[in-house]
Amino acid sequence: MRRILSILISLIASIIIVIYVVTLTNPHESVREQVVIEEHVIELQYPRVLSNITVEEAILKRRSIRDYTDQPVLIEHLSLILWSAQGITDPRLKFRAAPSAGATYPLEVYVVAGVRGVLIRDGYYLKPGIYRYDPLKHVLVLVKEGDFRDQLASAALDQKWVREAPISIVITAVFERTTRIYGERGASRYVPMEVGHVGENIYLVATALGYGTVAVGAFYDNEVASIIGLEAEETPMYIMPIGVPKQPVKTSFEDLWVFIEESRRGP
Ligand SMILES: Cc1cc2nc3c(=O)[nH]c(=O)nc-3n(C[C@H](O)[C@H](O)[C@H](O)COP(=O)(O)O)c2cc1C
Repeated sequence: MRRILSILISLIASIIIVIYVVTLTNPHESVREQVVIEEHVIELQYPRVLSNITVEEAILKRRSIRDYTDQPVLIEHLSLILWSAQGITDPRLKFRAAPSAGATYPLEVYVVAGVRGVLIRDGYYLKPGIYRYDPLKHVLVLVKEGDFRDQLASAALDQKWVREAPISIVITAVFERTTRIYGERGASRYVPMEVGHVGENIYLVATALGYGTVAVGAFYDNEVASIIGLEAEETPMYIMPIGVPKQPVKTSFEDLWVFIEESRRGP
């Protein structure tokens, strides 16, 4: 009898523990999922080494990725991606991560963050919105609140990767900063070249941190400008959606050696 009683007590105790764990974890998770960070100025983590791959491996693995999981981008990773785009690398001269003709720095960088697009810490997300990156302070400044991914994708000829990525980076240019020194050559050559430098930095750092991106150049300038809320003198140049790739990039240096060898033997 006593044995049956003790089995019964341990059974009831187990049931209570299971109920406790279920009610404390699941609903708690869903509540935390909805928590967003409300601040208008987000101080980003200081830039530091976060990846464990070399620049050669990042170049090898860089691919235009258009298919993402629904995992968010971690804020410390976003911080490093933004720094690689336009962050300061020489505090004395205020030179930046990407070269610029005459250090005129015509480019601006924005983040279009979707709902649960940027994870700040366990269960806490950046408020969905459009943010401008301030390279000197290394902060994100909220420009506009809301999830603008749908609108941005429509402006980009309905490219679904812009709609589905947790975030997109938008690079814009204030041509005048460069043309007042270099004239037409600044507009036709230097500024577009600089966008390419920044785009490649974003590609490589995103790749090194386990994300994928694609440089999107096909969009209606006026629509993107109105979504971001740009002044008349600022032109959108690239949209770069970023997310965790559904499929890993499989290329290896060994594959390349075989390819080069075969090309050398050639037809
Ligand atoms: C200036 C430029 C504009 C591009 N525009 C788009 C675009 O609008 N949509 C897109 O899906 N890919 C776009 N791409 C990505 C190219 O399609 C891609 O780089 C090319 O297919 C080679 O693939 P890889 O980047 O994986 O090497 C663009 C690339 C560049 C350099």
